[in-house]
Amino acid sequence: MTSTLPADGPRTSALPHDVTNLGLARDGVLRVEWAEREMPVLRLIRERFEKEKPLAGLRIGACLHVTSETANLMRTLKAGGADIALCASNPLSTQDEVAAALVDEYGIPTYARRGVDRDGYYRHLNAVADTHPQMTMDDGCDLVSLLHKERQTDLDGVFGGTEETTTGVIRLRAMAADGALRYPVVAVNEAMTKHFFDNRYGTGQSTVDGILRATNILLAGRHVVIAGYGWVGKGIAMRMRGMGAQVTVVEIDPVVAIEAVMDGFQVMQGIEAAAWGDLFITATGNYHVFREEHFKLMKEGAIMANSGHFDDELDLDALRRMAVGGVRQIRRDLQEFCLDGERHIYVLAEGRLVNLAAAEGHPAQVMDMSFANQALAAEYVAKHHAELEPKVYVVPEEMDREVARLKLQSLGITIDTMTPEQLAYVNSWQEGT
Ligand SMILES: NC(=O)c1ccc[n+]([C@@H]2O[C@H](COP(=O)([O-])OP(=O)(O)OC[C@H]3O[C@@H](n4cnc5c(N)ncnc54)[C@H](O)[C@@H]3O)[C@@H](O)[C@H]2O)c1
Repeated sequence: MTSTLPADGPRTSALPHDVTNLGLARDGVLRVEWAEREMPVLRLIRERFEKEKPLAGLRIGACLHVTSETANLMRTLKAGGADIALCASNPLSTQDEVAAALVDEYGIPTYARRGVDRDGYYRHLNAVADTHPQMTMDDGCDLVSLLHKERQTDLDGVFGGTEETTTGVIRLRAMAADGALRYPVVAVNEAMTKHFFDNRYGTGQSTVDGILRATNILLAGRHVVIAGYGWVGKGIAMRMRGMGAQVTVVEIDPVVAIEAVMDGFQVMQGIEAAAWGDLFITATGNYHVFREEHFKLMKEGAIMANSGHFDDELDLDALRRMAVGGVRQIRRDLQEFCLDGERHIYVLAEGRLVNLAAAEGHPAQVMDMSFANQALAAEYVAKHHAELEPKVYVVPEEMDREVARLKLQSLGITIDTMTPEQLAYVNSWQEGT
C-alpha cells in the first residue's frame, strides 16, 4: 500500500496543473495513504481495474472536492486505464497537500487551490473542459452546467457522466425535464450505499467536526436549529443530540417533519426557531433558508453554518447589508457580523459547506462506499452508454448491493441467507393465517 515518498522542497511538474504548492506533495501522499487504509472496497475495485482496464483510453473530466478520499478514487480510475483531469467542486474544500500529491505523485492533472476566487474556480473548470472529456464526474453539476451553458460545441464528444450529490441530481433532473440534458448521467447519490451512509453518517460527523474546529464551542446544552431533515439533516441532528445539544428541526415537508417529531426532536417554523436557537445549520439544498427576517430575531452571539451544497442557503448579502458595525475575521473559518452597531452574528466558513471547508469532509470509511459506487458507475457508463438516453439514471440495484456486500466483507461481517423453505415462503401467496 505504501509508496516511496516524494522528497520535501520546491518542485515542478511537466503535467498541466494549477495547485498551491507542489512542495506539499509528501504530506499529501501520507494523507492519501492514511485514507486508503479505510477504503478497502475501493482498493478491491482498483485491483480489479488494474487487471481488466475497463476504462482504457477514456478521457474523464472530474469536478469533485479535492480530498484524500477523492485522490484514492482518481487512482482507481487511472488504474482502470482512464485519462483524468480533476478540478475542485468548491473553492474552500481543497486540501492543498492532496492537490500537490495528485500532480506530483499520482500523475493526475489537477486544478485546485484552497481559497480560489470565483474567476479562478471557473478557470479551473474550463481547464478540465479543455481536455475534451468523454465522461464527466461531477459533485454539484457545475461541470455539466458549464458544458451545457457555455461550451455546447464540446458536448458532442461527451457520452455520459456521473453525479455525486443531491443538489447536482436535482439540477440534472431539472435539465432533463426541460429537454436540455444532452447525455446520460448516473446519479451516484441515489445509491442506497451512498446517501444512507455518506449523507447521514459522513455529513453528520464531519459537520460537528467542522463546527468544533471553527469555533471550539461546547455543544452540550446548546440550542441547535437544523433546517432540513433529509439524509444530511438527520445525520447532523443525531450527532448533535449525541453531543448533548437540544435540537430543533425546521422543515417544509409534512411527512419528514412528523419523522423528526417521532425521532424525538422539536419541530418549529424558521421564524420561531430564529429567536430560540444559539447555533443554526442549514442542510436543505434550498435558497436563503435563513434570511433578513430571521437575522433580525436572532440572539446576540448566534452562530450560523451551512452543510448544504451551495453557499446560498444563508442570505449573506442581507447579513452584510445589516452589518453596520462591520465584519471581522475572528478565526480562520469564523466571521463576526456586527448588526445594529451592537448585536453580533457569527458565520462559519463563509457559508460554504462547513464539514469540508472547516474540517476534512467525510471520513474515508464512508467515502469508501460512495466512491466505490462512483468507480463502478464510471465502468457502467463506459460499457453501456450506447444503450442509454440523455436522462438521469439511478445506480443499478445489483451494483448497490455488491458495494454493501464488499463493505460487510471488509468489516469481517457475514450475514444470513434465506433457507430454501424461507425462499419458497416469501415467493408464495397460498400461505396465510
Ligand atoms: N456537506 C456535505 O458533505 C454534503 C453531503 C451530502 C449532501 N450534501 C448536500 O446537502 C443538501 C441536502 O442533502 P440531502 O441528501 O439531505 O437532501 P434531502 O433531499 O434528503 O433533504 C433535504 C431536506 O430539506 C428540506 N427542505 C427543503 N427546503 C427547505 C426549507 N426552505 N426549509 C426547511 N427545510 C427544507 C426538504 O423537505 C428535505 O427534507 C444538498 O444540497 C446536498 O447536495 C452535502
